[in-house]
Amino acid sequence: MSLPTEFLDQLRARVGLAEVIGARVRLVRRGRQFLGLCPFHGEKTPSFHVYEDHFHCFGCGAHGSLFDFVMLSESVGFRDAVERIAALAGMTVPEASPEARERERRRGSLFDAIEAASAYFHKMLRMPEGRPAAEYLRRRAVSEAAIERFRLGFAPDGRSALKSALARDGFTDEAMIEAGLLVAPEDAGRSSYDRFRARVMFPIADSRGRVVGFGGRLLESGEPKYLNSPETPLFHKGRMLYGLAHAAPAAAAAGTIIVVEGYMDVIGLAEAGWNNVVAPLGTALTDEQLQTLWRLAPEPVLLFDADAAGERAALRAAERALPLLHPGFGLRFANLMAAPGDDPDAAARRYPKQLLHRAIVEAAPLSEFLLMTATRQRRLNNAEDFAALEQRLNQYALEISDADARRQFQQTFRSRVRRAAFRGTGNIHAGAGTAMRAARRKGRGAEPPWAARASIGAPPAVAGANHADGAAARPAEWTLLAIMLNHPEFFHEVEDSFGAIAFTDFNLDQLRQAIVQALSGGETLDATRLADALAAAGQEECVADVLADPLIRTHRQIAPSAPLEQVRATWEENLAVVRNAALSPLSTATAGGLARLTRQRAAGSGGDDD
Ligand code: UTP
Ligand code: MN
Repeated sequence: MSLPTEFLDQLRARVGLAEVIGARVRLVRRGRQFLGLCPFHGEKTPSFHVYEDHFHCFGCGAHGSLFDFVMLSESVGFRDAVERIAALAGMTVPEASPEARERERRRGSLFDAIEAASAYFHKMLRMPEGRPAAEYLRRRAVSEAAIERFRLGFAPDGRSALKSALARDGFTDEAMIEAGLLVAPEDAGRSSYDRFRARVMFPIADSRGRVVGFGGRLLESGEPKYLNSPETPLFHKGRMLYGLAHAAPAAAAAGTIIVVEGYMDVIGLAEAGWNNVVAPLGTALTDEQLQTLWRLAPEPVLLFDADAAGERAALRAAERALPLLHPGFGLRFANLMAAPGDDPDAAARRYPKQLLHRAIVEAAPLSEFLLMTATRQRRLNNAEDFAALEQRLNQYALEISDADARRQFQQTFRSRVRRAAFRGTGNIHAGAGTAMRAARRKGRGAEPPWAARASIGAPPAVAGANHADGAAARPAEWTLLAIMLNHPEFFHEVEDSFGAIAFTDFNLDQLRQAIVQALSGGETLDATRLADALAAAGQEECVADVLADPLIRTHRQIAPSAPLEQVRATWEENLAVVRNAALSPLSTATAGGLARLTRQRAAGSGGDDD
């Protein structure tokens, strides 16, 4: 419900921001502003600044107005925040018009209807007819705790299961239709019927945790896989984020929020311990959703599916974000380093937790993401190529309305292109060997190559992008090698494919060849003797790097004690990733870069010159 702007202005004039914040946070005056310990993240030295009309934390990026502060710190909506502030000032929020009151009343009854539906679906999941749905959730390894927390449910098959249950509670057809629970046929003579039938139900709540709509998933394959509530007075697809009410406090505590594509991704990540996760409802991120995210964290992290659609969605979000950008705010793009087509839910269940953790902490900033997007699958051989690249990047930068942010992007883009042009061709994607060498210099147990971030050469790859530049293949190559090192007895099964495939990373490919050589001799070697043979072949350091990697160490499916069936499954998955990367057009460019690197190495040239 909208409030008169004059009233909000009066309120701002009457109530000082420092006064409201000072009631919760000890503030010290610094000239015209105030300074204190940020209430939105744990800190020991103050970085929370309160200005006349807004607050800003240089530690966690929390930022906003008087109303934002109350909304954030008391987890209430705008209306409630206004009421609380008005109470402080001894003012009363103006009464709504009779029409507005009527609208409020109807909204209230819609909330009730949807809440009743949610309770009904949840109950049905425990009933005999809900057994297939409960079974389905169990098969997908959704825990009881998650079922409760997300209030998952089941909509029985049939035209009027929900309709009759809610009618018994006194809800009218009209209310249920307006709430999106029933479908009213065009033909007025026919009766309304349940919208959701034979589906697993995912209640969708607003920022205050009130259920306002649903997504319903089929138990088997079919179309549409998910059916969502239609637009209603309460449910606006483009404004909602699935999981928001749960995620908001967790995001404030963590200082970051993760955005995934699907309902199941939110749930899968929650099962793995990430609670600061939300998803849009199957549509591209809207301006409103971005603003909501920025109220919770300065740099929301997008963790999208490892497929072309995920990549497109990430680019669309980036383009959306540009005009809205302000200094201190941005987006990050995580590369889900998993098999092509995996989503975060699958990755969270299949891979060790550190893989996702790493993907999240190493997510690329918006500027890097745009650089990668603009250079991906494109050759940079001559001045014309670089001119086109510069123009493409400048087009992105010109989308930024904020002058400071725009200038920063332009400068960064310009200098990165200039450097790449100066160094010559192909370089833009050849970071693997360099990073490996850098890791080497840091010594044993250093970050593995795909983790290192080098200049323009090796920006962290993003969802899907990796298939083009071979970066996705690196963890897979790493894993295949670790399997060989831990399970040399497995070699005879895969001798042909392992011998024939080429790794994108030069060092890793050297190790691969050494392993083939050591194991294809007549003798069978166990892990210890294989390690000895590889040491003798000058591969000791690389072997140690692979085995010391924390991800490899905790990867139970390939541990020396893992049963061979498990090893085999992991092998197949990772081999597919490596093969896929080998087919992509840019892998030749990468190979070119690596060849040059090899020559430099042979010539004894030391470090990287950028
Ligand atoms: P996904 O197909 O990735 O769904 O679509 P998911 O959540 O990972 O589910 P599972 O693992 O296949 O069961 C991502 C999101 O797109 C919307 C939903 O919001 C879904 O969570 N979507 C998808 C629809 O609205 N309708 C559809 O038919 C499919
Ligand atoms: Mn998915």
